[in-house]
Amino acid sequence: DGVRFVKYQGFWCALYLFRQILSAQKHFKAKDSHIILASLPKSGTTWLKSLTFSIVNRNIYPNHEESPLFTCHTPHLFPNLEFDLYWEQENPNLQNIQNFSTHVPFHSLPKSIIESECRIIYISRNPLDMFISYRHFSLENKFVKDATPFELDEAFDMFCRGIHIMGPFWDHVLGFWNAHLENPRKVLFLKYEDLKEDVTFNVKKIAEFLGCPFSPEEEEQGVVEEITKLCSFENLKKLEVNKNGHVYGIVKKSSYFRKGEVGDWINYLTPAMAERMDKLIETKFKDSGLVFNTQSKVVKN
Ligand code: A3P
Repeated sequence: DGVRFVKYQGFWCALYLFRQILSAQKHFKAKDSHIILASLPKSGTTWLKSLTFSIVNRNIYPNHEESPLFTCHTPHLFPNLEFDLYWEQENPNLQNIQNFSTHVPFHSLPKSIIESECRIIYISRNPLDMFISYRHFSLENKFVKDATPFELDEAFDMFCRGIHIMGPFWDHVLGFWNAHLENPRKVLFLKYEDLKEDVTFNVKKIAEFLGCPFSPEEEEQGVVEEITKLCSFENLKKLEVNKNGHVYGIVKKSSYFRKGEVGDWINYLTPAMAERMDKLIETKFKDSGLVFNTQSKVVKN
């Protein structure tokens, strides 16, 4: 997309994020109570933010109409460690934030995240849809004004060679996958496609992981379904707070809600491209126990 990268600790770090990442690594002090949502961009982070926020705050805002979900642009429910916040030695304004998100790979997270008892929820997505989603996002928001964006096939070739924001894709995913295998109480590993298939099941799983499972009474009252409805793509997209205006000066708030489907890549990538990625992930994820289904069920436009 024309963004400049620097290779840092084995990953492709967007140059415009480098200083913030260094400062977060140096100064961010995770507390045991923090919840960290981690992902590669365009993997379903915004959806996970809305769900997690609604799960943990369900007793504070039992009447959903009063939830900050209606007044806060959804991505900002969990401010991003490297995009939204600049970490300094002492910054009292940051003391009270409990929820954070990040795109930084597992091995480059601030040490305090690993050493504290804070929980990490990672959301992954099949690489073809993630790539197409990112492509739309960066073109729509014209990240780099003067640079000519790469053609689709060039950008895809780079993606397959691991050159992608916070990539290589497989290293990012495997970092969190292995951390999850090592300590499933610390890291919950989710897939966008699984959430699409059964969001209720995954909402319960998140609540259990965070130590606030739904009681039988809550389940009977339909609290889980209320949350999933509140956080559905259709609902989030039509919220006034997500419709107009920009963040970071150039990113349209509405661009976080595009299509929300599994398999949309079929409308943009050739079968040969998909095959190349399938082979790659087969090799990269071999023996990891992790499988990504890139089969598209979407009917071609
Ligand atoms: P598409 O571009 O394929 O539509 P992120 O939040 O990590 O930036 O990811 C954005 C992707 O998640 C976009 O994918 C967006 O449409 C989709 N998305 C946003 N909210 C969603 C929701 N509530 N349910 C399902 N998908 C959602």
